[in-house]
Amino acid sequence: MGQLINVVIDGIETQVPAGTLVVDAAKQVGVDIPVFCYHPKMEPVGMCRMCLVEIGRPQIDRATGEQSRNADGSIAIQYGPKMETGCTVVVSEGMVVRGFSDEVKRARKDIIEFLLTSHPLDCPVCDKGGECPLQNLTMEFGSGESRYLYDEKKHFTKRYPLGELIYLDRERCIQCGRCVRFQDEIVDDAVIGFEERGRSLKIVTYSEPGFDSYFSGNTTDICPVGALTTSDFRFGARPWEMKAVASLCTHCPVGCNLALNVRREHKTGGDFVVKRVLPRQNEAVNEIWICDKGRFAHHYASSPDRLTQPLVRVNGELQPAEWDQALATVAEKFKAAGPDLLTVASGRLSNEDLFNLRFLSEQLGADTALYSDMAGGDLVSQVGVGQGTNFSDLGEGSTIFVVASDLEEEAPIFWLRVKQAAERGAKLIVANPRYTKTDRHATHVLRYPYGGEASLVMAMLNALSRKRVELPGEYKDFDRSEEIQSAAKVFSDAENAIILMGNEGIGLKKSRILAQACSNLLVATDHVGKKNNGLIAVWQKANTQGAWDMGFVPRDDLVESMQSKKALYLVAADPVGDDPGSLIAIESADFVVVQELYLTETAKNADVVLPAQSFIEREGTLTNAERRVQRYYTAVPPRAQTKPDFSITAEIGELMSLEMEGRLSFRVMEQIAAQIPD
Ligand code: SF4
Ligand code: SF4
Ligand code: FES
Repeated sequence: MGQLINVVIDGIETQVPAGTLVVDAAKQVGVDIPVFCYHPKMEPVGMCRMCLVEIGRPQIDRATGEQSRNADGSIAIQYGPKMETGCTVVVSEGMVVRGFSDEVKRARKDIIEFLLTSHPLDCPVCDKGGECPLQNLTMEFGSGESRYLYDEKKHFTKRYPLGELIYLDRERCIQCGRCVRFQDEIVDDAVIGFEERGRSLKIVTYSEPGFDSYFSGNTTDICPVGALTTSDFRFGARPWEMKAVASLCTHCPVGCNLALNVRREHKTGGDFVVKRVLPRQNEAVNEIWICDKGRFAHHYASSPDRLTQPLVRVNGELQPAEWDQALATVAEKFKAAGPDLLTVASGRLSNEDLFNLRFLSEQLGADTALYSDMAGGDLVSQVGVGQGTNFSDLGEGSTIFVVASDLEEEAPIFWLRVKQAAERGAKLIVANPRYTKTDRHATHVLRYPYGGEASLVMAMLNALSRKRVELPGEYKDFDRSEEIQSAAKVFSDAENAIILMGNEGIGLKKSRILAQACSNLLVATDHVGKKNNGLIAVWQKANTQGAWDMGFVPRDDLVESMQSKKALYLVAADPVGDDPGSLIAIESADFVVVQELYLTETAKNADVVLPAQSFIEREGTLTNAERRVQRYYTAVPPRAQTKPDFSITAEIGELMSLEMEGRLSFRVMEQIAAQIPD
């Protein structure tokens, strides 16, 4: 820890690190100085004046240069002639802060009165009502009446779309600038800004289409009033009506922590529905942010197109069936197929689902396949980032190498955290055949023709070792590239180094080679086996790493393998939808079972279709790309006759006299923990 500074805040003596802002120092001793424009994740700007406090500093005797003393020998404190903003003032030795004196409270009252001069009296219908800092602080410090004239309030259009997802209510804006600063400072999408001055000042969008950013929803969380709302939630519910359920985003391998806000709804006949998705703070994973995909793309789970009943093919047609009938058919056919069954599953499933699928296959002596065109999970198990890894720890002395990934597209919050690490001084090497937004923050940008990614990594290795690997003819020039040599040195010299490996334009075979090259580079430079070092695969699904850990491996010859089997069990995999050429494999199998959320193209061609539950209706665990095993919980009751994947598999197994856990997912996790230590 750096130098500690002694301060007194509302009579409480404390020590805080040098450089701490007064508002943060106060928070540490339980003194909550109100703020609007200040946000701990952004640079202070001192725009709103809500955090005014009285600040005193030791008085210096001009004659001696020494601190003056009172008659009782204590150090004399001199207060400034005016109050100061606690969000912009850094603590200094001997500082004394009055955060709740009468003077300070009077100033707060005036600031609130001023902020409310043109604020509408919307609270009863405002989306923020019930969780609004302005409402709360008005109740705590406001005057109850205003000296300003109601008729002189400015009135603006109430519903101004900044983009498809975010609406602005200009009347409610208190001009704190949090939204503008977030877009500029945090996510490097300066697509909104202030226009005009004084009471006419307004937020406008500069992009076409409007508010063109993958992170726009976060501005509605940090807006301290109801000025910014989402098209998804606007007028959807009041905060106190909803229950927050801990969940995880299932859209990408970052594994952002979510709070699903649910309540009963008239529209759904009294059923619970997810009304909005908010980030759940986890400073090691997503801090307090999520991307717009995670926030808005949850509606698929509530879609009326979801499967709600088992289907069994009768006389060539898929017909609704009872679970007993469907499962009995499946168990009988699987038992008959024995080793001639192939189970294909994807990283959309939880660890518990995958564990049960693997167990069932093993008991039948049958094979499994991971439905993925990216390899490397086995290498991640060996050289993946160590326990305790946190992107927030990376800065000066660290190097992050992003290869074959458009990180903002594929794993938006990884992108954001990598960008922040680069801003803290981490070296950032980006290797991709084309420009990506990560380039903006890179210290080294390396270009290669599509297909040259592994050779580029090998050239970095060649630059560092005497034992050279022969590069293919078309990539021989890489060995002479000064940029590659310089990047290799930066990587090798780093105290901490992480590689984020994607799959852009690669495919399964080449990604295996790339993963091996990345692993070799990490091992050769001693960046394995410790926290903040190692390989992260930017998978396409949320739990692909978990699938590898449960023993699922992708196959180069998936279609041929499927074609050679009598029975197929396809879970969360839609090969026909992804490639109509796969239909031949589905058609050639004697018996095909599809376990899914929807009637996919593959499901349409199955013999039995089993309706699974989505992540909002059940619980389980997912392993993110950093190999964090995280748990999500049931947010809404199941739809009609759906079941969790692990239960369906267990029920099939039980019909074959196998002992399997199908009721409680944490009991499956106990088995996983006992058998798969990682
Ligand atoms: Fe602040 Fe909200 Fe206005 Fe943006 S819209 S300046 S966050 S009050
Ligand atoms: Fe979901 Fe990934 Fe976005 Fe996080 S970054 S909210 S995990 S899609
Ligand atoms: Fe300090 Fe706004 S919070 S000036």
